[in-house]
Amino acid sequence: MTNNTLPSHVTLLDVGPRDGLQNEAQPVDARDKIELVHRLQAAGLSQIEVTSYVSPKWVPQMADNAQVMAGITRQRGVRYSALTPNMKGFEGALVGQADEVAIFAAASEAFSQRNINCSVAESIERFKPVVAAARANGMRVRAAVSCALGCPYQGEVTVGAVVDVIQRLIDIGVDHIGVADTIGVGTAGRVKAVMAAALKHVPVAELSGHFHDTYGQALTNIYACLELGIHTFDTSVAGLGGCPYAKGATGNVATEDVVYLLNGLGITTGIDLDKLVDAGAFISGVLGRKPVSRVSNALLAKRIQTN
Ligand code: HMG
Ligand code: MG
Repeated sequence: MTNNTLPSHVTLLDVGPRDGLQNEAQPVDARDKIELVHRLQAAGLSQIEVTSYVSPKWVPQMADNAQVMAGITRQRGVRYSALTPNMKGFEGALVGQADEVAIFAAASEAFSQRNINCSVAESIERFKPVVAAARANGMRVRAAVSCALGCPYQGEVTVGAVVDVIQRLIDIGVDHIGVADTIGVGTAGRVKAVMAAALKHVPVAELSGHFHDTYGQALTNIYACLELGIHTFDTSVAGLGGCPYAKGATGNVATEDVVYLLNGLGITTGIDLDKLVDAGAFISGVLGRKPVSRVSNALLAKRIQTN
């Protein structure tokens, strides 16, 4: 399965404004969220997950979704997406003029219940009209498969369970599948096995990895995916985030760390690492802490030394 040649270009989708900030207990002002999106696009990100249209009772931090979407000055060539668990969420994303909506199913029944209050089968039924409405409105649909490498409630998740959900999502017409390690437990061999199985059902251009970095494995897991030719990943500026329904899980792998890796491999991303570090430093300043990115902290320290 392994390619000897790594991809020459990788597309990163920054999920920091959504996956990152949804996990913050302290309210973040909508203006700062908008500024973060502006800084990410200025750094060269061509795909940004801006917000989620979920219940504000469940995730209060995302209650300003409409304000944030309306406040963005859009840049040509950038795809702005939003998470939509059901038709109510989709209607919000339609008003907000999202280019793409993201639905999220789980490879684990227990997580599906905790995260979206329904079974996996029920969630697929809820997603059907979302996919149809998105298609009717010319919007792309991305689907995340949560807990593909392990579940915080049920533990092990089989490759078969992941493939089963992927197939159900393909059957309802999604454009893209994102395999998500929600709690960051996966290691490279296992990731390769899951991705190789996924590749039997999904074209490589429409398969991505979404790796939370709880156990520090995300960069290695991305490298394992590169070896399979996978060239699209979700990442989160400054390593922001986690999922409110996966306690203890840390943020996604930092975009800065992934860009540094890819630069070193000679793989293009179109992203300016210095501007990206600025974006990460900005939102970390808003949150009152250092970025959760080794690369960002190293480069920020170097700037101080050289000034
Ligand atoms: P529910 O309570 O079962 O929904 O929640 P319901 O249909 O029974 O409605 C209950 C109330 O919620 C009603 O309001 C609805 O109008 C409202 P009330 O009459 O009580 O005033 N409601 C909504 N409000 C706003 N937007 C909506 C919406 N839908 C219903 N879209 C629901 C079901 C899915 C809404 C809820 O469970 C929810 O919002 N969950 C939040 C899930 C979430 O955001 N999780 C984090 C994101 S997923 C993630 O991070 C994983 C990912 O990164 C990949 C990975 O790492 O694995 C993508
Ligand atoms: Mg996530």
